[in-house]
Amino acid sequence: MPKTNLNIGLVGYGFMGRTHSNAFRQAAQFFDVPYRPVLKAVCARNAERAKAFAENWGYESVETDWRFLVERKDIDVVDIASPNDTHAEIAVAAAGAGKMVLCEKPLGRNAAEAEAMVEAVEAARVANMVWYNYRRVPAVVLLKFLLDEGRFGRIFHYRAKFLQDWTISRDLPQGGEGLWRLDVAVAGSGVTGDLLAHAIDTALWLNGPIAEVAAMTETFIKERKHNLTGRIEPVGIDDASAFLCRFQNGSLATFEATRYARGHKALYTLEINGEHASAAWDLHDLHRIQFFDHRDEGRLRGWRSIHVTDGDHPYMKRWWVPGLQIGYEHTFIHQVADFLQALGGGASASPDFRDGLATDYVTDAVLKSAKTRRWENVAGQMTNDQ
Ligand SMILES: NC(=O)c1ccc[n+]([C@@H]2O[C@H](COP(=O)([O-])OP(=O)(O)OC[C@H]3O[C@@H](n4cnc5c(N)ncnc54)[C@H](O)[C@@H]3O)[C@@H](O)[C@H]2O)c1
Repeated sequence: MPKTNLNIGLVGYGFMGRTHSNAFRQAAQFFDVPYRPVLKAVCARNAERAKAFAENWGYESVETDWRFLVERKDIDVVDIASPNDTHAEIAVAAAGAGKMVLCEKPLGRNAAEAEAMVEAVEAARVANMVWYNYRRVPAVVLLKFLLDEGRFGRIFHYRAKFLQDWTISRDLPQGGEGLWRLDVAVAGSGVTGDLLAHAIDTALWLNGPIAEVAAMTETFIKERKHNLTGRIEPVGIDDASAFLCRFQNGSLATFEATRYARGHKALYTLEINGEHASAAWDLHDLHRIQFFDHRDEGRLRGWRSIHVTDGDHPYMKRWWVPGLQIGYEHTFIHQVADFLQALGGGASASPDFRDGLATDYVTDAVLKSAKTRRWENVAGQMTNDQ
């Protein structure tokens, strides 16, 4: 069947601008979807660099102000791949202009911003999605299928870590290009909104809602030079964040994220332990899940390492031949393919903005608990005793 063109307007040409552009270019080639993304316009403030990006990736035009982009009649989808402080304003305006909206994570710098974004897309009835791409790793999707099939029985534990080491130097400035993640006004928070948000989104998807959290955070380097003001300024982000939590299903969990784990660049790991089975996944070996099933014959019982590359594994029959691997960039291609497929059925693909808001409720509760030093209920969720 011929595919209908879907005109994309991308905001931001950084790290995520590249992953999204690559995904828009490949999704309709590898997946049987009803729409074909057309790279209509890219928007960034520096016209020369935006033009060079447009030429490299094949965008037809360039804008230097997102306000013009969202008003353009020839744009169907506004894709927000710019820093966190821009998400709410652009998303609300884009929805108001009747555009479908894709937004990078975290949805808002806090839940209040995310609530306004949910309200805007739901009032405008436009398709929307948040780029929590780890939901599209084939091995993680297989884990979700195994959980939904009830193979684990009652869940007792969930454990997740996201470890990096790139901000250890005290000479690293904060703010501006490439370093906006250290500027709390732009980022909203530190590793809680940046790294834990990924771990929380995956956990909510796999293990259901979180009822309450008890957290601690630390800012190891208290002052850094600000790139935009040139002055030494207090650091407002959390450098490290860890929390205990209870899920509504009664399971207990620990989450940890830091940019101070020397030697770790992007180590995202998760493990889940149930009555009958356990499983673990590791971003550095993203094609495998480690799986243990206690119901296996006793003599042969043990951890198996499943290489999730066969034709009957999620997404894999669309790629090469069994046994061959795909990578990080493919998670974004899968996400675009799922978005286009859902759109064909008149729906939004998950995680939609409401799912993104659920994660922001948890990160808000984590940051609040770290301040109050008390257990905090997660807003928008029911606790066990309610
Ligand atoms: N899904 C993931 O795994 C993942 C990974 C990295 C980043 N992110 C998220 O993606 C977003 C962007 O992060 P990044 O790493 O690509 O950042 P980046 O610094 O590499 O790129 C940001 C881009 O936004 C542009 N920009 C900034 N302000 C703008 C404005 N007002 N109008 C138009 N363009 C503007 C910059 O010029 C730059 O091109 C953030 O929200 C971040 O949290 C998600």
